[in-house]
Amino acid sequence: VMNFLRRRLSDSSFMSNLPNGYMTDLQRPDPPAPPPPTASSPSQQAQERRPSHSFSSITNVVKQTAASAAGFVEQSAPSPSLSKKFKILLVIDEPQHEWAKVFRGKKVLGEYDIKVEQAEFSEINLVSHSNGTCNVDMQVIRGGTKVVRSFRPDFVLVRQHAFSMAQNEDFRNLIIGLQYAGIPSVNSLDSIYNLCDKPWAFSQLINNQKRLGSDKFPLIDQTFYPNYRDMITTPSFPVVVKIGHAHSGMGKVKVDNVSDFQDIASVVAITQTYCTTEPFVDAKYDIRVQKIGTDYKAYMRTSISGNWKSNTGSAMLEQVAMTDKYKLWVDTCSEIFGGLDICAVKAICGKDGNDYITEVVGSSMQLIGDHQAEDRQLISEVVLAKMNQALESRSSSVSRSPTRSPQSQKPATVQPQQVKPLICCSV
Ligand SMILES: *[C@@H]1O[C@H](CO)[C@@H](O)[C@H](O)[C@H]1NC(C)=O
Ligand SMILES: *[C@@H]1O[C@H](CO)[C@@H](O)[C@H](O)[C@H]1NC(C)=O
Repeated sequence: VMNFLRRRLSDSSFMSNLPNGYMTDLQRPDPPAPPPPTASSPSQQAQERRPSHSFSSITNVVKQTAASAAGFVEQSAPSPSLSKKFKILLVIDEPQHEWAKVFRGKKVLGEYDIKVEQAEFSEINLVSHSNGTCNVDMQVIRGGTKVVRSFRPDFVLVRQHAFSMAQNEDFRNLIIGLQYAGIPSVNSLDSIYNLCDKPWAFSQLINNQKRLGSDKFPLIDQTFYPNYRDMITTPSFPVVVKIGHAHSGMGKVKVDNVSDFQDIASVVAITQTYCTTEPFVDAKYDIRVQKIGTDYKAYMRTSISGNWKSNTGSAMLEQVAMTDKYKLWVDTCSEIFGGLDICAVKAICGKDGNDYITEVVGSSMQLIGDHQAEDRQLISEVVLAKMNQALESRSSSVSRSPTRSPQSQKPATVQPQQVKPLICCSV
């Protein structure tokens, strides 16, 4: 059956919509299927890739232990004299964005320097204990040199997608590990985990629309199919099918008729994942409204090359005025999953003049436009504020513990409680 489907798919016209190598990625089972009987089937190859990842993790640890004995590993956490002077910020991002520069000279709790450790998800491993200890090992190649580091992060900034079916990348295990040790983060690890399934996030947008009405929160009509078996009722065409959880227009196909829709259903069958359908909107332009802390920016992206995916081919990007309408959209989205410190809402403005909100993204959002340096500064300010808050509450919870004397309490944590009764009296 699989071979039949694959043969059928390879003839289909919509396959030209899929980027190179996408089919191999689509064949990754998620969740993993029981081992198939034939040794050479692609799904088994895909399964073998997973254990090999954890295998390499073990190998890394062994390598690091060996390297540690040889004195190659920089151990930053254990030295008590140093740990008083700085706090470790783990930034998960690509190396070309140099976050150490952005945080240079900045301090937390007034006196602690910020030591930035930057790596991509694929470059880190970690072990978390229930006592709150999280040991991160990272192995990165920088300027041709292998750098191996072990440290305990005090805070995390996540600037990469934790999950992408198209890239065959699933780092939710690392998000779980950070959460397990209670490492504070921007955005919250809770929200990052929740944003790992687009339809799950979309359900929050549906709630927003219910609350505000579709005039104020014009969400696109969408249908969710948990798997291909449910793709029997055919929508009205043309329709946009979004397969699984992917980014940057991957897994997104425009379908014009029933026969192509059935072909797509067979692709979804192979992926063993969910999909959604939306009516195709003939777009005048795309809208992105972003919020970083309390800073708002809105952008309009118009396709030049005529590709219906305006993030594909050449497009023109312009910053546009922040209107009350846009502010309401992004403010509402920033409240989901306990709050998103950094987020953007995406929408399409149709040639019919209507807006269609399609998606919300979190702290892994790409920075765009002419103010990326400013946006990075804004992100660092959000991180500093959250880091101060997290470290303060941690130290005040330590000082509240019975093992410490009451004198060690910071007056700042007591003051608000003393002020409150006065306000009550004056009412
Ligand atoms: C937490 O537990 C781990 C494993 O038992 C131990 O190595 C580490 O020192 C502990 N950390 C603290 C702060 O107690
Ligand atoms: C379905 O749409 C595709 C793409 O527009 C087209 O190439 C194909 O001929 C259509 N098939 C039918 C049966 O109309």
